Amino acid sequence: MHDLAARLMHAFDPEDAHGLTIRALKMGLGPRGGGDDPILATDLAGLKLANPVGLAAGFDKNAEVFAPMLAAGFGFVECGTVTPLPQAGNPRPRLFRLTEDRAVINRMGFNNGGLEAFAARLRQARAAGIVGANIGANKDAADRIGDYVTGLKRLWGLASYFTINISSPNTPGLRALQTKAALEELLGRLAEARDGLPAEGRVPMFLKVAPDLEDGEVEAIVETVLAHGLEGIIVSNTTISRPPLTSRFAGETGGLSGAPLMTLSTQMLRRFHTAAAGRLVLIGAGGIASGADAYAKIRAGAHAVQLYSAMVYEGPGLVGRIKADLAERLRADGFSSVAEAVGAA
Ligand code: FNR
Repeated sequence: MHDLAARLMHAFDPEDAHGLTIRALKMGLGPRGGGDDPILATDLAGLKLANPVGLAAGFDKNAEVFAPMLAAGFGFVECGTVTPLPQAGNPRPRLFRLTEDRAVINRMGFNNGGLEAFAARLRQARAAGIVGANIGANKDAADRIGDYVTGLKRLWGLASYFTINISSPNTPGLRALQTKAALEELLGRLAEARDGLPAEGRVPMFLKVAPDLEDGEVEAIVETVLAHGLEGIIVSNTTISRPPLTSRFAGETGGLSGAPLMTLSTQMLRRFHTAAAGRLVLIGAGGIASGADAYAKIRAGAHAVQLYSAMVYEGPGLVGRIKADLAERLRADGFSSVAEAVGAA
């Protein structure tokens, strides 16, 4: 029923449909996933996940529906990206369904209600399950790096983990923070801020990267992340590249996600797996639409996975189908846990 509802949403403009979905979820109309198969239980940098399938950032930008999405069966939910000040984002239309390609293009531009509203809602998160906070910078910030530090400090003690998002293509110049010198400064200041905060609030910190990195950048990012004590990397955000697409929206500006991102982001994940050589946890995102896709990410080196775009096409029941299929695939290959399969390919 919920998956039919998701398809009916395609009669609406994509952003209106998303707003209606959030409203329905807040009213308690979301699906209920059952208990998880024990083979799916896993550890992510010390976080105890009942299953490794997470909801990627951008769906719940304002931390409004983490509880219903956990109830729907996601093993963890990442809220945000949140910026210190509320901001409107880019003019609409800024979200496009590429139906024929099972893809999405977005140029939202970090539309969100700001840190204060986010923090107030996140207060209930710890009781609900594993809820991460994905933090970013305001478009007009004089000190962009300072915005990340502000987010970390304001949400300290409220989130199960933090994601430092420097890979959105929709805030001009943001991805330049992935270059060595800028990343050194960003992660240095964040590490310093983290060390100065109450130790009991300490949780994992992940960096979220783009799938469009050049040779050499992967290794530099891994070493910088390790040098500053972050726990892991999320690979990846949306791509600015355009693999072959057939939809009439293919030429829209923004980040591409969904099925056409699967191969590219998994190749990038494999490069991070090689460079990290077991020293970091990796979270695989990009184009996951099935248990086979989730399993491919895990075998390429992901300790957990995240998805968003496929839910636009398949509905929230997708997470249950992915988990059932993943459990079956693990058993068929003789694994007794997710951890055993990480990097097996
Ligand atoms: C996103 N994504 C995203 N990522 C992030 O770190 N902060 C954000 O605010 C957003 N916003 C956002 C909005 C929309 C509409 C989409 C489709 C995506 C990226 C998302 O978290 C994920 O990394 C990519 O979409 C790849 O996964 P999927 O969608 O192919 O499963």
